[in-house]
Amino acid sequence: MSEKETKTENEYLLQMIDICKSFPGVKALDHAQLKVRPGSVHSLMGENGAGKSTLMKCLFGLYNRDSGDVIFNGRSVTYHSTKEALEDGIAMVQQELNQAMKMSVMDNLWLGRYPMIGGFAIDSSKMYADTINVFRSLGIDYIDPKQIISTLSVADRQMIEIAKAVSYNAKIVVFDEPTSSLSDEEIERLFKIINGLKAKGCGIIYISHKMDEILRISDEVTIMRDGKWVSTDKASDLTMDAIITKMVGRALTNRFPPKTNKPGEVSLEIKHLTSKYGNNAIHDVSFSVRKGEIFGLAGLVGSGRSELLETIFGVRTKADGHVFLDGILMHNDNSMKAIKNGFALLTEERRITGIFGSMDIKENATIASLDNYKGLIGLDDTAMVHDTNWVIDSMHVKTPSQKTKIRSLSGGNQQKVILGRWMLTKPEVLLLDEPTRGIDVGAKYEIYQLIIDMANQGKTIIMCSSEMPELLGICDRIGVMSGHRFAGVVNREEATQEKLMSLSLKYM
Ligand SMILES: Nc1ncnc2c1ncn2[C@@H]1O[C@H](COP(=O)(O)OP(=O)(O)OP(=O)(O)O)[C@@H](O)[C@H]1O
Ligand SMILES: [Mg+2]
Repeated sequence: MSEKETKTENEYLLQMIDICKSFPGVKALDHAQLKVRPGSVHSLMGENGAGKSTLMKCLFGLYNRDSGDVIFNGRSVTYHSTKEALEDGIAMVQQELNQAMKMSVMDNLWLGRYPMIGGFAIDSSKMYADTINVFRSLGIDYIDPKQIISTLSVADRQMIEIAKAVSYNAKIVVFDEPTSSLSDEEIERLFKIINGLKAKGCGIIYISHKMDEILRISDEVTIMRDGKWVSTDKASDLTMDAIITKMVGRALTNRFPPKTNKPGEVSLEIKHLTSKYGNNAIHDVSFSVRKGEIFGLAGLVGSGRSELLETIFGVRTKADGHVFLDGILMHNDNSMKAIKNGFALLTEERRITGIFGSMDIKENATIASLDNYKGLIGLDDTAMVHDTNWVIDSMHVKTPSQKTKIRSLSGGNQQKVILGRWMLTKPEVLLLDEPTRGIDVGAKYEIYQLIIDMANQGKTIIMCSSEMPELLGICDRIGVMSGHRFAGVVNREEATQEKLMSLSLKYM
């Protein structure tokens, strides 16, 4: 190797070369490759199931690679646990946060390496002080180190993982879809932190399906498809269209399907709905939605959008107000009753309220509509298999079989199965909370098409989203929540991002 070539090779802080990894029935990584320079943000993109998370798990010691080399800081490395990776300077903020929910913030931060007094007692005051120090350096010292993790927002829980990376003095920090549940403000804070890490010479690996973010934050972009490396380019040489074409393997001309649904009579009426309990309770919300209408719900994170859907569905206790469907008062006291009454709710946090990880795809897909399969003796398995096939085909779920455990699917594919689950309940009212979160551009289009199809069948649909272009792209009208109240509604023709934003701030 010439001197020049050696020098170029040394420019990389991390090199993952020819990485292969198979699971039963799936070749998740097929000679994948990633080379990260110090002091740079390197984005990793690809469709759901392309192998992004798997590649990072192979780096972080969560999976053992079948073959290939990982060279970090000029040394060939293999980690057999996340602890080894962390101690060597590689940290990862995972797609589905995996934290000890019942323990405190600082316990989560120092787990497995508690500061000790004399080797037998945990030095809590040092642990507290160290935590405060790390938090200060990140500008997150509003978080109380003694708070129990489960009481924090997703954004703050993520911050704890970043703090952990910083406390280990990590040189490579991986972010696997970090912004999917963050508000704009939280995203700005995260980007500031990422730029700070970059300035200190860290290599950042950033995974996201959000194109605008990628183009804004990255120095380089690697695209994967079907477990293979497709390309690595400077971000400044890429456009959104170029990325999509490389990811999908073909050009995608439209991001939204044609809107063919025609709203009819008013079906769902929400009157003075107020929920009980807590700071997040919604207050005096009234609006109505028509059959065959896609009604968007905009608002900042924390504005009460999810709480509104949960109150309609009965998983959140109602304090006052009424829900009418076709003029009939609905008693959605709990989710069972809501499902019986023809309601379906796709929740935002699939890990907590959506998936049954150790169950297979068929079980996950059919669990909300078991009544439909009750035969004379037990459940009608043929029908269940048939319907699960419909879910897999119509949403292009990438899986070796129906019997695959749902937790082994990629994040986006899990989301598709859960959406399919609710479609199978044949609901009259479909409440969708961030239905395309974590879903790649191609599959998003398919999900929009399914939502429009449901509207064409005369369903009543409410859809929350933090992505305004998406609301503007497929909704007929958009209601806006602000400070747990209903701030107003805008027709599709008149809706602009500015109008929605100003309504979002109405009761702040
Ligand atoms: N533990 C596992 N067992 C079996 N298959 C797995 C496991 N982990 C990942 N896979 C499979 O490997 C493939 C790649 O999945 P991966 O999670 O890496 O995709 P991804 O690019 O991160 O997608 P997404 O954008 O949806 O998060 C998928 O087909 C997935 O089903
Ligand atoms: Mg992933």
